[in-house]
Amino acid sequence: MSVFKQHQKLETNVFLLAVGILLTVITGGLVEIVPLFTIESTIEKVDGVRPYSPLEQAGRNIYVREGCYLCHSQMVRPFKDEVERYGHYSLAAESKYDHPFQWGSKRTGPDLARVGGKYTNDWHVRHLINPRDVVPESVMPGYPHLKHKLVFNDVEAHLKTLRGVGVPYTDEQIKSAKADLAAQAGVDATASSDFARRYPKAPMGDFDNNPEVTEMDALVAYLQVLGTFVDFTTVKPEKVAR
Ligand code: HEC
Repeated sequence: MSVFKQHQKLETNVFLLAVGILLTVITGGLVEIVPLFTIESTIEKVDGVRPYSPLEQAGRNIYVREGCYLCHSQMVRPFKDEVERYGHYSLAAESKYDHPFQWGSKRTGPDLARVGGKYTNDWHVRHLINPRDVVPESVMPGYPHLKHKLVFNDVEAHLKTLRGVGVPYTDEQIKSAKADLAAQAGVDATASSDFARRYPKAPMGDFDNNPEVTEMDALVAYLQVLGTFVDFTTVKPEKVAR
């Protein structure tokens, strides 16, 4: 009873209530903030994460242009149900070259952070043209207009701009952006070994079985690398201690 009495005092006195609220907020704030001072970086050190190749970056631009993020997130949360469904939870390092990031919180469709390698290129192409051809109950819209030719004469400028916000593209990567794009899309076989050296693990070839370089090629190249850079069979992400 006396506890309630005392609480009544707190609730009916504006000054005491304000002090009480202040103390509660300060305690909560400290509990959240203080642990962050013990780590040097909230980005883990892991091998494998690289900037997107020019074709993948072009695909990423299309992903943003078409608003795929309105229905798809790109972050596997560290919860059991998510990890069982999608794979290893997302690391901060995996989206460090994403500008703008696509984490999102809206999931009309599944999370796409680890969709790379889950399906064949052919599946993606059919799915993007008309999702109901491969998933009969799908409510995802079709994107048949992606069969248009990809306009990529500005791809160097895109890479340069990304370098401006911290993505470590080299001069060589920027200079050869157009050639790299063509090499990855399978239209210039002579440049493919240079390309593979610059962008390890990048999928190459004609993604949509159309000899032209299309927007579809770019988008599928992008989808196929999502979540594949870090090899989780060998990597144990560590927080970097001070
Ligand atoms: C109106 C919401 C909506 C939009 C917009 C949308 N999707 Fe989807 N997407 C879905 C739904 C629902 C599913 C699950 C059913 C299916 O597989 O079609 C899905 C499934 C997918 C899958 C398969 C994922 C998996 O793990 O099975 C991929 C890949 C995908 N979408 C890519 C895209 C891309 C790329 C875009 C933009 C060009 C896009 N989606 C736009 C709703 C959407």
